[in-house]
Amino acid sequence: MSKHGADHSITVKTLAKRKESGEKISMITCYDAAFAALIEQTSIDMILVGDSLGNVVLGFKDTIPVTMEHMLHHTAAVGRVVKRAMLVADMPFLSYNLSVEQALKNAGRLVQEAGAHAVKLEGGAAVCPQVKAIVQAGIPVVGHLGLTPQSVHALGGYRVQGRGEEAKRLLEDAKALQEAGVCALVLELIPQTLAAEVTKSLRIPTIGIGGGPETDGQVLVLHDMLGFQSDFSPKFLKKYANLGGTIIDAVTRYDAEVKEGSFPGPEHSFSS
Ligand code: KIV
Repeated sequence: MSKHGADHSITVKTLAKRKESGEKISMITCYDAAFAALIEQTSIDMILVGDSLGNVVLGFKDTIPVTMEHMLHHTAAVGRVVKRAMLVADMPFLSYNLSVEQALKNAGRLVQEAGAHAVKLEGGAAVCPQVKAIVQAGIPVVGHLGLTPQSVHALGGYRVQGRGEEAKRLLEDAKALQEAGVCALVLELIPQTLAAEVTKSLRIPTIGIGGGPETDGQVLVLHDMLGFQSDFSPKFLKKYANLGGTIIDAVTRYDAEVKEGSFPGPEHSFSS
């Protein structure tokens, strides 16, 4: 903590000011210190240690197997490096649904043991008691509506949410989360018009992924936007690099040079 407050430069106050000024908020996921050190050299506002960790780096098929221990381990790795951006940690499946006490205890662990500046949890009115308690304990909370991957089985798959009748309930949930005290709201995979309506209706910023351009900010999964997997290209995703191809090419050349004996060369070897 610096003399002037939190030692990261993007805080809940910054988010509130951005909502007022209309300046967009950028958020990206990150799961380890190596990538966090690179992201810190950009002006990304918020780093999310998402439970997408499960799919992206732990090899699970969805986020459901992700535990508090996984989240603590990876948030701490990112937290050792992040000084500038606001660091948000996801609360994993069933780490906040059992009771308000359970939610508060686990949110506290992500902040106290792993260095998160805020936590994110999925759901609407049903999780408002948990949100209120965590916020009252001094921990900022980010909400998450629309496609909430922890409920993938109840939602019937990874599909656009909030169409037709569902739109009204999503807007009500968004307002309930705002009243409960969330500092920002992630809107995942919902129609552009609904994302715009929710954004206009709230005093807090919305951060979209697959919600079109009218939200107050955007978030993407780091490995997806870096193009790690050539066969994963959902409509909402823009790939800013093709690192999957670059890595395969580099490792293929290394493998060939080791096998043909051209690596290491004299320039990589030591004289006696
Ligand atoms: O876990 C995650 O990466 C997320 C983002 C998609 C918002 O929740």
